[in-house]
Amino acid sequence: MASPGDNTGDSSGDDIRAERLKRLPTYLFEELASIRRAREAEGKEVVDLSIGDPDLGAPEVAVEALAKYAADTQLHRYPPDSAIEAFSQTVCEWMKGRYGVDLDPSCEVFPVIGTKEGIALLPLATLDPGDLALVPDPGYPVYSRGVWFAGGKVEWMPLKEDRGFLPEVGLIERHRPRLVYLNYPNNPTSAVATADFYRLAINAAGRTGSYIVNDAAYSEVAFDGYDAPSILQAPGARERAVEFHSFSKTFSMAGWRVGFVAGNRHMIASLRTLKSNVDSGVFGAVLMAAATVIREGWDAHREMIEEYARRRAIIFDGLRACGIGYHESLATLYVWARVPGSKGSMEFARNLLEEAGILVTPGIGFGKSGEGYFRISITCPTDQVEIAGKRLHEVSHAWKG
Ligand SMILES: Cc1ncc(COP(=O)(O)O)c(C=O)c1O
Repeated sequence: MASPGDNTGDSSGDDIRAERLKRLPTYLFEELASIRRAREAEGKEVVDLSIGDPDLGAPEVAVEALAKYAADTQLHRYPPDSAIEAFSQTVCEWMKGRYGVDLDPSCEVFPVIGTKEGIALLPLATLDPGDLALVPDPGYPVYSRGVWFAGGKVEWMPLKEDRGFLPEVGLIERHRPRLVYLNYPNNPTSAVATADFYRLAINAAGRTGSYIVNDAAYSEVAFDGYDAPSILQAPGARERAVEFHSFSKTFSMAGWRVGFVAGNRHMIASLRTLKSNVDSGVFGAVLMAAATVIREGWDAHREMIEEYARRRAIIFDGLRACGIGYHESLATLYVWARVPGSKGSMEFARNLLEEAGILVTPGIGFGKSGEGYFRISITCPTDQVEIAGKRLHEVSHAWKG
């Protein structure tokens, strides 16, 4: 069970890890991994609902386009400007149609090798040592890792249920950070943000000279007719924010490693300079296929969402049977549920694995404020989710009254 927080080191010889790696939080989930291994060695199946790795496969139009463009040997060279321009132009058309946001394809959009790469590198491009970044707690670990690797300082922004898992915008005024990370629709809480919240955050950033990084990797994974807003719709956002979008979740293309950053041209220019010294970009055929899928992949996308909705309903039903409360999400690939009783999230996850053979992620793994919750991912095949649903019904007595 790999994790971006893995800090177990190298047990085979000298530890040559740099201090910045040694300082990373230790890997919490080794115990769960070993219970899982023991169960599997006994021939007992484990349903893994811990990882957000879409299983449905890319839309056919994407696969066909990739085959077509992969045959073009001109695209086998370093990614040509023509492919980057075609991709950026298509992204701008989509952003205009989807959000009504006008962007300049030459400087307000740029492809990244998956949003993880762009998010991790942006602090190296925009922070000096000691600069402050506000980071959500609980949150996707890459935000803090990127800041630490750049020598920046992290101030946590607690995401609490009574505030709809939105951070206090006042923290921006109080700390006057250089960067503020937001992530809506949110991993792990599955919460969503309103256009009003984005407007307040952009106004605060304007007053304090801060820049906002909104991670919108799950913007298109939405249910019950929900339409996620973009932070770039807020007045003044292009001066204060960038937004990351991913093909991984929208089109089940996580292995393709492609996404984009859109918004503030100065932040994007800095990221481009940094990246030109580190990597050589996304394979041109992947860029062209990604441009195709964002134009033509929406029927397949709808079918994916219907499949996720079925899985989500099974999980909701199982949790209800157990009397376990959960955030009834409108978006993301996750269900954020409350740990029943007074146990810690790690102990609960251990019990659930031992008693029901279901592996979930304890909330504490996403940060201190994640304690008291656990995350269920719906990227596991539907027959497996059905097994998990059945098992939840079977063990439901364990957590009731
Ligand atoms: C909140 C969030 N942002 C970004 C990513 C990374 O996505 P990508 O595959 O585009 O790198 C993930 C992946 O799990 C995520 O949960």
